Amino acid sequence: MVKSIEWVDGKVKMLDQTRLPLEVVFIECKNYMEVAEGIKKLIIRGAPAIGIAAAMGVALAAPGIDAGDFKTFMKGLAPAMQSMIDTRPTAVNIKWAVDRLEKMLYNNRDRGIPELKELIVREANAILEEDIRTNRAIGKWGAEFLHDGDTVLTHCNAGALATGGYGTATAPILLAIEQGKKIQVIADETRPVLQGARLTAWELMQAGVPVTLITDNSAGALMKNGMIDLAIVGTDRTAANGDVANKIGTYSVAVLCREHSIPFYVAAPVSSIDFSIPGGDRIPIEERSGREVTHINGEYQIAPEGVNVINMAFDVTPSKYVTAIFTERGAFRPSDISKLEKEDSDIETLRLIP
Ligand code: MRU
Repeated sequence: MVKSIEWVDGKVKMLDQTRLPLEVVFIECKNYMEVAEGIKKLIIRGAPAIGIAAAMGVALAAPGIDAGDFKTFMKGLAPAMQSMIDTRPTAVNIKWAVDRLEKMLYNNRDRGIPELKELIVREANAILEEDIRTNRAIGKWGAEFLHDGDTVLTHCNAGALATGGYGTATAPILLAIEQGKKIQVIADETRPVLQGARLTAWELMQAGVPVTLITDNSAGALMKNGMIDLAIVGTDRTAANGDVANKIGTYSVAVLCREHSIPFYVAAPVSSIDFSIPGGDRIPIEERSGREVTHINGEYQIAPEGVNVINMAFDVTPSKYVTAIFTERGAFRPSDISKLEKEDSDIETLRLIP
């Protein structure tokens, strides 16, 4: 299985996703600034993966903090925590991971500083390990909704590369195949950064999953021709009402699915649900450089010099278009996911059965 990120000998090792699929190159980050830079430049990307990177970035900052007491230690850690949060605004997983580290440290504040430094590394690695288990659980629930012979449309990359491993949107596909179902994938290329063409196509081919690449604007025609049975996408942040922020173009896919009566599923770890945000209109949407649109791979110019560009990296799909959300705790109607904030005894009654 491809590993997007690992903690190796006190450093953070990342697969450089900007160079895929042509080169498989790893970089090593020795300090939190290098991790922040890696997140901003999309060397590592995908909501769960950048959450893990943020936690590991904070862990890299810890050894250098000269503090004799808890308060001074937390003050020393604050710039690293803030710089992680400032990298990319849409994926809630970054803040989730930083908050989790902070909470863990407060819960252990009576221990000595050397022990706290070790605990941060342990917690960051636990976030990575848990993410892989979470994705397998998402896969288990989601696979129930996949039938033998299905063709699944994906958008962007919500696979192993976007997570600690296994992926979120890819997990139901991989699990269904493990169960013996014949599944194939159609991957949207996902302009402008081409995560579908460069990353999803690459990792599914590595995993032996049949995958066909299409341009983003082909999806409607394929649906009309009966060539797509369902769509599964990931999310960077899902609001409490089930509105889903994901890679730009996801909204168009969802509307097309509705028009063609095709189920539109979202695969989301509970850590990607922002229970503090009531609706999608409050989700911050990252705007990226126009150069991503005017140039292919930052190099080959395809638009007139000086043209105005709008380059929103994400859009919000209203919950009314979402058939179900696959989480590690079950598959739910979008209107029910706010209940996941609490460990709820009647959660069984909310779960969707395919
Ligand atoms: O800009 P990116 O490549 O980080 O965008 C990634 C996505 O939109 C993914 O679909 C999302 O983060 C979910 S990853 C499991």
